[in-house]
Formats: sequence, structure tokens, C-alpha cells
Amino acid sequence: MNTAKPVRIGVIGGGLMGREAASAFGRWFVLENFPVRVELTAVCDLQPALLDWFRQVPSVRLVTSNHHELLASTDVDVVYVAVPHHLHEQIYLDVLRAGKDLLAEKPFGIDLAAAKKIRDEAIRLNRFVRVSSEFPFLPGVQRAIQLAQSTSLGRVLEVKAGFLHSSDLDPAKAINWKRQNAYCGTIGVMGDLGMHVAHVPLRLGWNPTSIYAQLQKGYATRPDGKGGSAICDTWDNAALHCSVVLGGNAVPMTLEMKRMAPTETNTWYFEVLGTERGVRYSTKEPKTLWTYRRDKEQWWEKTDLGFGTPFKTITGGIFEPGFPDILMQMWAAFLAERAGMLGERFGCATPDEAVASHEWWAAALASHARQQVVALP
Ligand SMILES: NC(=O)c1ccc[n+]([C@@H]2O[C@H](COP(=O)([O-])OP(=O)(O)OC[C@H]3O[C@@H](n4cnc5c(N)ncnc54)[C@H](O)[C@@H]3O)[C@@H](O)[C@H]2O)c1
Repeated sequence: MNTAKPVRIGVIGGGLMGREAASAFGRWFVLENFPVRVELTAVCDLQPALLDWFRQVPSVRLVTSNHHELLASTDVDVVYVAVPHHLHEQIYLDVLRAGKDLLAEKPFGIDLAAAKKIRDEAIRLNRFVRVSSEFPFLPGVQRAIQLAQSTSLGRVLEVKAGFLHSSDLDPAKAINWKRQNAYCGTIGVMGDLGMHVAHVPLRLGWNPTSIYAQLQKGYATRPDGKGGSAICDTWDNAALHCSVVLGGNAVPMTLEMKRMAPTETNTWYFEVLGTERGVRYSTKEPKTLWTYRRDKEQWWEKTDLGFGTPFKTITGGIFEPGFPDILMQMWAAFLAERAGMLGERFGCATPDEAVASHEWWAAALASHARQQVVALP
């Protein structure tokens, strides 16, 4: 039995993601032989109903609507912040300056300047900081990464990655902060979905040398939920046509981030095709890994994957992992790396990767505005 002192976690922003984090900590004991224990001790949100929800978590000893109060607590070692994007910069800097480590939600600041400021402050203060992106912890994605890193693909011909939603197709869907530039950022859907798409290419070192972006808006107004309507000024769909140099060859890499992709509900996908082999994985078929090989004929082969997550749990090997499982795996990677025990396993997105992703989105905005290909360093 692990009797080590738990890492005490505070959550700022107890909405959709703050409660998902609480769910991961609440069943931490399913991780097998995991070296770090956790305890959710403090929560901050502006909504009393959400604070009430957290009161049912037995380990929570502080609930507050003032994040400075949470940060002043000596009962908190690590802070998870899941608030609207316009608040990232100030709250992340407050966390770092309070001497706490940080798991930051994407996009890690509302824009490139904010992301750099947070990254640089974390370096200056020597704080451990990582950025949330959970899809790479799916067994299928881990296998796709292994194949992409191997030499067995031959010459890489093309790369496609994307993250697709469809609920914005409904014009009656009420506005929320994610649909307004002031709160979500002028990068729109790229801030919302982009880190998920960029994380694997970034980790593979597949940095675009140029980007041509096509950005689309959906409905100009949406119901405000109070009987009126509100301006919806955000980019809803982004298609980035990139060039990346792999093995000395310029390879097309397409990145799609869409809130208006008919029939797609949280579909994350990644595909690499080479002259010898290829791999395709999509959460549309969450336990299926497709691999391509070429001999006399060409074959797509399909493998059912089980619960082959990077960190072992008590869950049976033939069972299917879902969103709460990979979120827990991401937290396990964060806490293992913080403790110096990640080993060869896949780590969470780094501040440098988040800054690099913001460089892509800034280039995409410039490309769309000028209707030109934009070069990246
Ligand atoms: N990793 C993922 O899969 C994923 C999924 C969805 C959202 N996100 C990210 O998580 C973050 C939050 O998104 P969400 O979907 O949870 O949003 P949400 O609107 O459900 O929750 C945000 C919460 O922040 C609270 N809040 C606002 N201002 C605050 C303040 N000053 N102090 C404390 N709390 C405050 C709100 O009351 C709300 O409960 C965003 O950065 C978003 O991009 C990540």
C-alpha cells in the first residue's frame, strides 16, 4: 500500500473540466503501483451551485469564489486551472507567483503573447507546468505515435490530424463564452480545439515550415439564453494546409479544427501514410487501430485494442477506455513527470509546445487575412 503523503490539488474553475478532474482524483486507487497519491483539497469557482457540487467530495476542505484565497492556502501543492481563455494569463501567473505548480488548460493563454509570458514566468520561477491534452493517452494514439516514430513507414507521403465537433450546426444552440472572441480569443476554434490536434505532430517534431489557412464563421448571432440574441464572432472551422519537412522531403500536413463538421461528436483523428506503411486512428472507432502495409498487394489491417493505457490500472485488458480514463492517464503522466518518474512514457504537452501551437494559430490568422501562404521559422 502506498502511504506516501498525497499531492494536494486545488482546482480553479469547477465547470465542465474542473469536475472531470475531480472525477479522476476520486478513483485514483484504480492506478496500479502508481507512485504518487492525490487529494483534491480546494476549489474555486464563481458559481455557488458548482461549489456545492464540490462539497460532496470528502477531501475538499476549502471552497471559495476568490482564487487568491485558494492560492494563499498552504494545503495546496498543485493547481489545475480550467477557466475561460481571457482569464488564463492572469490566473496562471497568479498560480506561479503563489509558488504552486500548474496543470494549465489549453490554449495556455488567449494568444501567442500571453502564452509566451506564462511560459517565461514558469521558467523564471522554476515551476513545473504542463498543458492539458488527453487524447494522446488513448492506446490507439500511443500505437500510432510508435509507428510514426519508427522507420517502417518508408518515405512519409502525407499527414492528417483533426478534431471535429458538430453541435454548432444547430442555430438554436445558445451562445457561451467559447463562441465570442472577447473570451475565447480571436483564434476562435483553434484555441478551443487546436492543442488537441497539434500535440502529437509537435511531439513528433513535425513543425510546419508554411501554413495556408481557410477559416470559416458559422452563424453571426445566437440565442443569448435569456430570450434575446448575442453576437457570435468566432471562427468556427479552421483548415490548415501545412508543409512539414520529413526525411528531407516537403510533406503536406492538414490540420482540421471544426465546430461545424456534420455528424462528428468529439472526433479526434490522426493519420500518416508512407510508401511502406501507414496508420490511421480515430475516436469514431475508439478501440480500432488501422495500419496499412505494402507488399505484393496493399493492405489496410484492422486491430482491436484493449485497455493498453500507458499507466496500468485494475481495469481488465479487454475493456474499452473512454474520456474519463484518458483524462486520468493524463493526470497520472503529469504527476509522474512532476515526481521525476515518467520514464519512457508519453508526457503531457509542455509550455514550449503550447507556445509553438500558438505560433501556428497566429500564422493561420495572418494567412487567412492575406489569403497567402505564411512561412514559419
Ligand atoms: N482538455 C479538454 O478536453 C477540454 C475540454 C473542454 C474545455 N477545455 C478547456 O478548459 C477550460 C475551461 O473550459 P470548460 O469547458 O470547463 O468551461 P466552463 O465554462 O464549463 O467552466 C469554466 C468555469 O470557470 C469559472 N470561472 C470563471 N471565472 C472564474 C474566476 N475568476 N475564478 C474562478 N472560476 C471562474 C466559471 O464559473 C465556470 O464554472 C478552457 O480553457 C477550455 O479550453 C478543455
